[in-house]
Amino acid sequence: MVGTQWGDEGKGKVTDYLAREADVVVRYQGGPNAGHTVVVDGEEFRLHLVPSGILYPGKLCVVGNGVVVDPEVLVGEIEYLQSRGRDVSGLRVSARAHLVMPYHRILDALQEQALGERRIGTTLRGVGPAYMDKAARVGLRVGDLLEPASFRTRLEHNLADKNRFLQHVYGAEPLRLEDVLESYLAWGEKLRVFVAETSPLINRAIAAGQKVLFEGAQGTLLDLDHGTYPYVTSSHPVAGGACIGAGVGPTRIDRVIGVVKAYTSRVGDGPFPTELHGEEGDLVRERGHEYGTTTGRPRRVGWLDAVMVRYAALLSGLDGIAITRLDVLAGLPRVKVAVAYRYRGGEIEDFPSSLSVLQECEPVYEELPGWPEPPETPGSLADLHPHARRYVEFVQEATGLPVVLISIGRERGQTISLAPVFEPRPPAR
Ligand code: GDP
Ligand code: IMO
Ligand code: MG
Repeated sequence: MVGTQWGDEGKGKVTDYLAREADVVVRYQGGPNAGHTVVVDGEEFRLHLVPSGILYPGKLCVVGNGVVVDPEVLVGEIEYLQSRGRDVSGLRVSARAHLVMPYHRILDALQEQALGERRIGTTLRGVGPAYMDKAARVGLRVGDLLEPASFRTRLEHNLADKNRFLQHVYGAEPLRLEDVLESYLAWGEKLRVFVAETSPLINRAIAAGQKVLFEGAQGTLLDLDHGTYPYVTSSHPVAGGACIGAGVGPTRIDRVIGVVKAYTSRVGDGPFPTELHGEEGDLVRERGHEYGTTTGRPRRVGWLDAVMVRYAALLSGLDGIAITRLDVLAGLPRVKVAVAYRYRGGEIEDFPSSLSVLQECEPVYEELPGWPEPPETPGSLADLHPHARRYVEFVQEATGLPVVLISIGRERGQTISLAPVFEPRPPAR
């Protein structure tokens, strides 16, 4: 399950809904930059690292090797769930997952400051710098926390280097080895019982015929390779990311579902063709309470962009989509969907790689009639207003993808399931 836009599509809600049927739920990329919200019986849970299947007691929930783990955030999240009476015994964390270190958070902030106007608008959680160290082969991993002597040596090396950089490039305060060491080893002790070799674990579950749900974080347009670079995150939210970030072969994945918010939102900087600036935008933002789960920042909002969703479909080989937040658009006199981009008098078919081209693209809109508030808990599609149904049908046509699920509220019950998701791969399409 992947996000098809710029994140915050409602992946937490959809994961929680689908997880009822799954035996294992796996996060495969991203880190504490993610904020996945799950609401169960009126209780809200905001998850950053723990998979959104954790609210089913004992459910096997894996933080895969591709995730960057801030142990302070993870320990905090485990304790927060426990303090709310939740069972976290099914949690497993890959020993291969890289750690977010204090210098990553500091560097994230300093790099953003240095960029000034050109800043990316990161979540400041240290995620980009942690992935940089992973690629540079100097990263520290979750498994290292359990081997204090070598952790110390490697941290010492890293700190010497990072402190030089902090002091001489940015004029910032150096970090003290003993402080970092003490807190990280203490968190390591708390995490010890959860650390595992997760790829074999997941592969064994698949071989035994169990249902495994891969929970993407961020969204397709934030993908390091395929998104609106450089206004992207440092990992691969597309479906292929699940293979690397969980350690499973592409032949083991039966279906890929994209989560599509009924409109579009973006929390950081960068181009946004269907962005709404005036009153309509404010209305959608207020109705949708569009403020970041991780940072509280107001999210930018705009109409649904079918060009973007088709691009996401191609990159991840989507089999179907889950439409979320259909209720948020209720009450608007009319709604729009971008079906193509116009660029310098012509139409562009493929989502452009150049940001200056994207900036100049004018969405071609189709306008559809609005609909009133849906019932709190609709049983089926037939319970939705004909105009809401028409919108869903239109999205299906404009994206060329079957809708497998519709979400019209934050609770589990506010979901209409249209097709089974855990099915073996259908014959070639
Ligand atoms: P994620 O990052 O993709 O998991 O999404 P977030 O949790 O950051 O943001 C989605 C927000 O929308 C959360 O507050 C959810 O509780 C909420 N949400 C999810 N689905 C729906 C829906 O169908 N309707 C409404 N009104 N809210 C929803
Ligand atoms: P979920 O999983 C929305 C955005 C940031 C910024 C860019 C880079 O909740 O959908 P980073 O901190 O990753 O280096 O920031 O990516 N971003 C998200 N936007 N939802 C997210 O996660 C995001 N994670 C990162 O706003 O534009
Ligand atoms: Mg989010």
